[in-house]
Amino acid sequence: MRTDIAQTIYRQDYSPYPYRLSQVRLEFDLDAQTTQVQSTLHFEPGPQTPPGTPLVLQGEDIELLSVQIDGQALSATDYYLDEDTLRLTPPASGKPFVVTLVNHCHPARNTTLMGLYVSGDKLFTQCEAQGFRRITWFPDRPDVMARYDVVLRADPAAYPTLLSNGNLIEQSTLPDGRRQTLWRDPHPKPCYLFALVAGDFDCIERTETTRSGRPVLLQVYSDRGCGKQTQWALDCLAHAMHWDERRFGLELDLDRFMIVAARDFNMGAMENKGLNIFNAAYVLADPSTATDGAYRRIEAVIGHEYFHNWTGDRVTCRDWFQISLKEGLTVFREQEFSADMLAEGLPANEAASARAVKRIDDVHVLRMMQFPEDAGPMAHPIRPDSYQEIGNFYTATVYEKGAEVIRMQHTLLGETGFQAGMKEYFRRHDGQAVTCDDFVNAMESVYTQQQPGQDFTVFRRWYSQAGTPRLQFEQRYDADTQTLQLTLRQHCAPAGLEARQPKVAAKPPLHIPVAIGLLDANGQAMPIHWQGGTHDSIVLELREAQQSFTLHDVRRPPVLSLLRGFSAPVIIDTERPGSELALLARCDSDPFARWDATQEFALRHLLAGMRAHRAQAALPDIEPLLALWQAALQDATLSPAYQTRLLALPALRELIDRGTPMDPQTAVHVWTATQAALGARLADQWQALYAALADDGSPYSPDPVASGRRALRNLALEYLLAGKTADATRLARQQYAQASNMTESLGALAALLQHAPQDCADLLRDFHDRWQHDPLVLDNWFGIQASAPTCTVDQVRALMALPDFTLRTPNRARAVIFRFCMDNIANLHTPEGYDFWAEQVLALNALNPEVAARLARAFDNWARYEPTARQGMQAALQRVRFAAGLSRNVHEIVSKALDA
Ligand code: PHE
Ligand code: ZN
Repeated sequence: MRTDIAQTIYRQDYSPYPYRLSQVRLEFDLDAQTTQVQSTLHFEPGPQTPPGTPLVLQGEDIELLSVQIDGQALSATDYYLDEDTLRLTPPASGKPFVVTLVNHCHPARNTTLMGLYVSGDKLFTQCEAQGFRRITWFPDRPDVMARYDVVLRADPAAYPTLLSNGNLIEQSTLPDGRRQTLWRDPHPKPCYLFALVAGDFDCIERTETTRSGRPVLLQVYSDRGCGKQTQWALDCLAHAMHWDERRFGLELDLDRFMIVAARDFNMGAMENKGLNIFNAAYVLADPSTATDGAYRRIEAVIGHEYFHNWTGDRVTCRDWFQISLKEGLTVFREQEFSADMLAEGLPANEAASARAVKRIDDVHVLRMMQFPEDAGPMAHPIRPDSYQEIGNFYTATVYEKGAEVIRMQHTLLGETGFQAGMKEYFRRHDGQAVTCDDFVNAMESVYTQQQPGQDFTVFRRWYSQAGTPRLQFEQRYDADTQTLQLTLRQHCAPAGLEARQPKVAAKPPLHIPVAIGLLDANGQAMPIHWQGGTHDSIVLELREAQQSFTLHDVRRPPVLSLLRGFSAPVIIDTERPGSELALLARCDSDPFARWDATQEFALRHLLAGMRAHRAQAALPDIEPLLALWQAALQDATLSPAYQTRLLALPALRELIDRGTPMDPQTAVHVWTATQAALGARLADQWQALYAALADDGSPYSPDPVASGRRALRNLALEYLLAGKTADATRLARQQYAQASNMTESLGALAALLQHAPQDCADLLRDFHDRWQHDPLVLDNWFGIQASAPTCTVDQVRALMALPDFTLRTPNRARAVIFRFCMDNIANLHTPEGYDFWAEQVLALNALNPEVAARLARAFDNWARYEPTARQGMQAALQRVRFAAGLSRNVHEIVSKALDA
């Protein structure tokens, strides 16, 4: 493992690779212990490359056996080789030349799950970002693109299926009995999109016809015996394919598209050209094993990887600072796909609120994951300027805030304009490795046509500024002239590395689309007269630090609905009267803004509760919150899915994050007490709702209406348990016993563990006995226990001592260790909890630095906590930082945290 001292890589230092690589041929003699790779690389010098320029290749944890140039074997004195580079001298002629390398790698020993590795009895690869160098020496950078021929040879008894990117060209049996296959990928690609898979699989497939009438073979591979759990994944893949044709005009450019499920995988999934490799958690589903949430996540991830085929693979990144070019854009496309799927077949008004549910969930994730990141030591622009370990920059900022930045461009251009921009982007850059700037340029070309004289100069700053901007507003209504003057102000404090500069420069303002609407005092929508039309909502374009907008013909004093649809990733900083929030929470016609007002109202109540608790005063009056909840409970016009969002308290993590200082134990106390009060005081209504939403016996379907009903019913059950309602435990046990799907049984069991752990030991045993053969279900069994309030550090250690536990499978480590460290707030924030975290970061560090670094991030914001927690976390961070053998990944995270 690499333990070298941190080196920082800067975006400014980019220079093109001096050689062009046209053709790659890889021959693999596959074996779990020692795989031999022969690589043949066809290079030619770039137009500006002086003769004699060295050819530098990267390698990691592999053994070089031989090198040739143009068929001439090199001796060890003819090249330079160290731990991570191989430097060759190309022929002085300046002509094209061929490098042939032979090396060994060791899949079974590879616990990092980067490069070629073993999972179960199969072989998989993961190359993004820099895993290909763990397979063979190579110019491992995304702007070196080549055509690949891949030959795979293996024992058919162990590895009957051999897959790689592109099309299967030849298959044969060798004299020694091994199978050989040749795969050819017609599309040039960077090596991070290379993949191979070998093993024994179930495969289901279907032929779909693209809109130009071409047949394509869609396949899903999974463990033997799991094929019946892959039907939903295959359906989602077909939906994604047709959706991308309909909405973006993008057609699949392959004859064959394969998805393979892997049990051991560091991330969610990977968009290798034509051969996507997935964490099995995002492929396998049937009603008895997968929750409604899992069905939706599978749809999203399958969509995401499929959409990468154009936004990522056809047009890729010039360098790793540009990850958001593909990730932000692809997350945006995935979000739109999911929203369109939720709304499919619904009448217009219901469709809008169905789409809003997706928007709410996405914004919720952004606030829980990205806002804290943007406020901590790892804060970075969506296009970072520097990194030590690129694996640490697959972040909520690059992905989720990156998607918000794309969404703002969509908002500014409108759907038609945005699609015109996409067309222009592909017209300019199809087949290239490009930058975020290239994308914005294409969008800007449309914007400038739409609004002559305007451009994206100010907008572009979203790519270079870290931190969450804060927005303030002031309204002045003049009854005589019937005008509303709205003044908006923006400010963005130094974040992350910026905050550590000796001289902090003021940040210039951003271009922020602010969607607004107006309500009158009765909550009626008021029309807005703007730019010659009458609208329910308009988008103001804020480009300056402070800017005023005047609305005319405003007949009555308005209540402002601000940031409708969450039109920009900002925080609204202006405190408004609770009465205004309550009005918006009941009446706003924009479903997102209505939810947002409800959340803000509840957060204020909870924050006031925390202040009171610390001052040992009585908790604030709950009546206003109750009234709001009651109104949402009684509103029969709402879809169950939307109602579930409206009636859920803000996440505990959000509450902690909003505290100054952050005070986890007080937050847990107040949050729990509030949930219990809402449960107890509204018990009759929760009970009625619970009964009304009972399963009607129709066959399981993950559709938004049926899953919305289940979600709302589970929420009602949770409130009943939280409120210690007399009958609640019986209802939960009954739901578990009668459940006809995993959403109901896991919902009941998880709620019991949270609220009545003494009443469910037998059910936990039963669940384990029933599902011990299914690793994904078992992950849930571990996860609900690790996050339960009764799960102390001793208890989590007991879970880890069970034979089913292993640190080597990231899903299992996440189910136990991450769930404890991220979701079990009361038990984590104890002296033993801090020790446990440090110990597990170090244990994972020795096996899998990528996963270890994710866990390390749990203490990013330690410096903002109250003193006891702060000191505990600081000591734990120091223990990790000064441990021997620290990976570059973990080192970057803990040193940035401690230096903050
Ligand atoms: N590129 C993958 C995706 O977003 C994520 C990933 C990154 C997977 C790095 C593995 C390693 O779809
Ligand atoms: Zn992605």
